[in-house]
Amino acid sequence: MSADNKVELVYNSQNHQELGENYDLWAKDYDRELEKKYGYLAPLPALELLAKYLPKSAKILDAGAGTGLIGELLNQRGYNNIEGIDLSPGMLEEARIKNVYNGLYQMVLGEPLDFATDSFDAIISVGTFTYNHAPSNSFDELVRITKPGGYIIFTLRLDFYKDSDFPIKMSALEEAGKWKIVEISEEYRCFAKTEPDVYVKAWNYQV
Ligand SMILES: C[S@@+](CC[C@H](N)C(=O)[O-])C[C@H]1O[C@@H](n2cnc3c(N)ncnc32)[C@H](O)[C@@H]1O
Repeated sequence: MSADNKVELVYNSQNHQELGENYDLWAKDYDRELEKKYGYLAPLPALELLAKYLPKSAKILDAGAGTGLIGELLNQRGYNNIEGIDLSPGMLEEARIKNVYNGLYQMVLGEPLDFATDSFDAIISVGTFTYNHAPSNSFDELVRITKPGGYIIFTLRLDFYKDSDFPIKMSALEEAGKWKIVEISEEYRCFAKTEPDVYVKAWNYQV
């Protein structure tokens, strides 16, 4: 693994503290690198799944907001009732500069979230459910804080997804009547300029 490859570096983090530190180190260069070096393609199909079902007034949580790329894109589409959470203070600091979130909070997915039950019309999470990042049990809290009838939209890398416990967790929530699948995107490349074998899909569940 090369320290030059920041994606590999964060994927190989041993725990939340190390993951947060690695993202803190990456924060200032993240937007530029994702655009110039990687050609980040993950957000758009997820945003399309959101825009198709949610009015502009929707109260949205960006879970794993990072530097706020998703908030910025939502804002450009006319959504301006957005909050964000992330475990990395450095990434949140960059997101704050974008000035598109009503609130940004340091919280850890997979642990209890400091939001009231039924708080949001939708949750969007791009690039956050992957190797050594947020675990599948994060969905329990995300379901709790989403209003009945609200949506949870997220991306998953397919290579990660197929060997993970995510398919089991997603089905278990459906069988328990906690959410139902609304739409799944076609598979698409995560990065235009590198890693041609990395494909993702975006899922949209209704609570
Ligand atoms: C690849 S970045 C994606 C950021 C943003 N959504 C985007 O698409 O540019 C993943 C983000 O998830 C955050 N993250 C990873 N695991 C997390 C967890 N368990 N709880 C909260 N945030 C987490 C990282 O700090 C990082 O900012």
